[in-house]
Amino acid sequence: MIRKIALTAASALAISSGAALAAGGHAELTDLAFAHEGPFGKFDQFQLQRGLQVYTEVCSACHGLKYVPIRTLADEGGPQLPEDQVRAYAKQFTVTDRDTGEDREGVPTDHFPVSGMETAPDLSLMAKSRAGFHGPYGTGLSQLFNGMGGPEYIYSILTHYEENPECAPDGIDGYYYNTAFPNGGVPDSCKDEHGVSTVPGSWIAMPEPLSDDLVTYADGHPATVADMAEDVSSFLMWAAEPKLMDRRESGFKAVIFLIILASLLYLTNKRIWAGVKGKKAA
Ligand code: HEC
Repeated sequence: MIRKIALTAASALAISSGAALAAGGHAELTDLAFAHEGPFGKFDQFQLQRGLQVYTEVCSACHGLKYVPIRTLADEGGPQLPEDQVRAYAKQFTVTDRDTGEDREGVPTDHFPVSGMETAPDLSLMAKSRAGFHGPYGTGLSQLFNGMGGPEYIYSILTHYEENPECAPDGIDGYYYNTAFPNGGVPDSCKDEHGVSTVPGSWIAMPEPLSDDLVTYADGHPATVADMAEDVSSFLMWAAEPKLMDRRESGFKAVIFLIILASLLYLTNKRIWAGVKGKKAA
């Protein structure tokens, strides 16, 4: 019995990443092996710092991060910037003070600004509000271990801009064709007789934000579109779920505790009833 429990637990842990992955709807999605994934995954501090740089230099022109306090950039498990750099980072923003109503330089206790562009959604919770993987597929454990694929979704959006397909050579005015974006408009010429789209993805209002070497990383890391997209997606996952590691760690402790408790209870139970059961057998 105990061996059985142990085996079940072990196999549950083993089936971590291999589970089948199906792209949601009719959109193309790239699965990535992020550092924070898997039962023992941790955010890569340097990747988060690079992601912050991409967010700051590119995405923040349109998107805000209003739920993220700037001071958390110094937190352990996050980008872990030194305090003086966090102060310098906060300083670049002008904030209207809540008490005095006057404009002042930002300080670490302020939050990141709101979106500068009205139609650009705030990115604080984006990595949690979008799901790349809709489950349960395969063993159903993929979601448990790999998450919902929010960062993969963001990565895919950033890397799946394509030329307009043949069915709509002129596209839609003011929109950009993206094979990973499931929820945008599709011109009638790209729909079949039932109104179902014949092309992957749809048209998005965000122009392609990244191009190779758009940023120069302070740590000398290469900056292809894929690198920047991966780094900023990881950063946005951290922004949405800064305590991912802590949560996972307490989860593990709880599971180990429960396994030990269950074994002890089982043995105790056996011992208590040993007399009664033993007699019956005899
Ligand atoms: C020029 C302004 C602009 C820039 C720069 C920009 N975005 Fe956007 N973004 C938008 C707009 C507008 C939308 C809304 C698109 C829509 O709903 O069609 C959007 C939507 C999104 C979405 C949501 C897609 C969805 O499922 O609704 C994500 C994720 C996103 N942007 C990430 C980023 C990231 C990461 C960067 C930086 C690398 C970035 N954006 C840079 C304007 C911008």
